[in-house]
Amino acid sequence: MAVLKWVSLIFASLSFFAPPPAATSSSQQITAKFLDLARRPELFDWMVGIRRIIHENPELGYEEFQTGKLIRDELDKMGIPYKYPVAETGVVGFIGSGSRPFVALRADMDALAIQVHGSVEWEHKSKVPGKMHACGHDAHVAMLLGAAKLLQQHRHELQGTVLLVFQPAEEGGAGAKKVLDSGVLENVGAIFGLHVGTRYPIGSVASGHGPLLAGAGFFDAVISGKGGHAAIPQHTVDPILAASNVVVSLQHLVSREADPLDSQVVTVAKFQGGGAFNVIPGSVTIGGTFRAFSKESFIQLKQRINEVITIQASVQRCNATVTFGSDERPSYPATINDIRLHGHFQNVAEQMLGSKNIKEMKPVMGAEDFAFYQEAIPGYFFYVGMVDDKKGPFEPSHSPFYRVNEDVLPYGAALHASLAARCLLEHQPEPPLSKGTSHDEL
Ligand SMILES: *[C@@H]1O[C@H](CO)[C@@H](O)[C@H](O)[C@H]1NC(C)=O
Ligand SMILES: [Zn+2]
Ligand SMILES: [Zn+2]
Repeated sequence: MAVLKWVSLIFASLSFFAPPPAATSSSQQITAKFLDLARRPELFDWMVGIRRIIHENPELGYEEFQTGKLIRDELDKMGIPYKYPVAETGVVGFIGSGSRPFVALRADMDALAIQVHGSVEWEHKSKVPGKMHACGHDAHVAMLLGAAKLLQQHRHELQGTVLLVFQPAEEGGAGAKKVLDSGVLENVGAIFGLHVGTRYPIGSVASGHGPLLAGAGFFDAVISGKGGHAAIPQHTVDPILAASNVVVSLQHLVSREADPLDSQVVTVAKFQGGGAFNVIPGSVTIGGTFRAFSKESFIQLKQRINEVITIQASVQRCNATVTFGSDERPSYPATINDIRLHGHFQNVAEQMLGSKNIKEMKPVMGAEDFAFYQEAIPGYFFYVGMVDDKKGPFEPSHSPFYRVNEDVLPYGAALHASLAARCLLEHQPEPPLSKGTSHDEL
């Protein structure tokens, strides 16, 4: 209810700065115009500047205080009303009529706990030890602010309302889930998210419909035995041997129990125990991740991981306790792109970039918290290419050598703005009926 009151206040204030309404552009004009505007120095240099400030000051999930302040300051300067805080450190801006239909655009804001490599020298490199924007979320924020500028300039032509979702904690913190739980997206009928891509050339985009990224779960297990002298094993219960057999047995879940055509992964990425060459330790800790596209496969994997660890450990007389995820590391659903929004994306991207620059993306087993939105709202996630051989190699994300090609910024801004404006114009997306009672205003 607080939200209702707040939004009506905001939209009442919108009428204060209402220049004469411009003629309504056709869909195709919108697409070409937005890319042209985003490439002009006024907008391009401004986005580059914002991206560099954020790059220098990386903040981890739910600590995006300066980043959020910068976003709010820019929205204030543009005269765009917003709600803050959403999901602890998030900011949600509103542009357009203030009424139905509603379309959302999302940018994640968080950095990673990575130390930029010592050999990387750059005027705007991270100034914070141990933290770095190594996944391009600094560029995502700059692009969404760029889109905000384009949309705000054309707000009288919008056939509905665009929500700008500046979301915290994508990297493992499930910020998207918190944004959803806040209720701010209640009446949204479609949501778009993008990621800069180090596998596709600048000026191209890549995506697909259906499953794009996997659902991801995490497990930890403590396997305990009885420590003792390494040369007198008969007086011990060896957890290293038990844990080793657990690791091997876990590998049979995908190779022997899963449908070979239903992609899944089980990886043990952590194995900790012991410390001396002549002592059998009392316990070993293992941990890892499992991935699947369907809910059924995901649940099945989880159940079997639990069984295999406990039962296999008992073969070597050890006890095991298994835990799955945590509040800090919740499981992520699969990223599944809506088929109707795929058609819309193809239209917009093709008109902006030409059909040869629309790449079909093969699904990968990585995960994205954008998937939480897609469980509740038709959603579409895509990659914007930034590889330019003239600018040297672009390392994959999460690398201490990671770089963003800033030439990508106008593409992201124009795609965001065009996807939203044209979705309102051409599709009038309504929220799914299962979302309960709906009303005409937020
Ligand atoms: C395993 O748990 C059982 C039941 O609590 C206990 O009796 C046994 O000593 C434990 N074994 C090891 C190796 O910790
Ligand atoms: Zn990342
Ligand atoms: Zn990312």
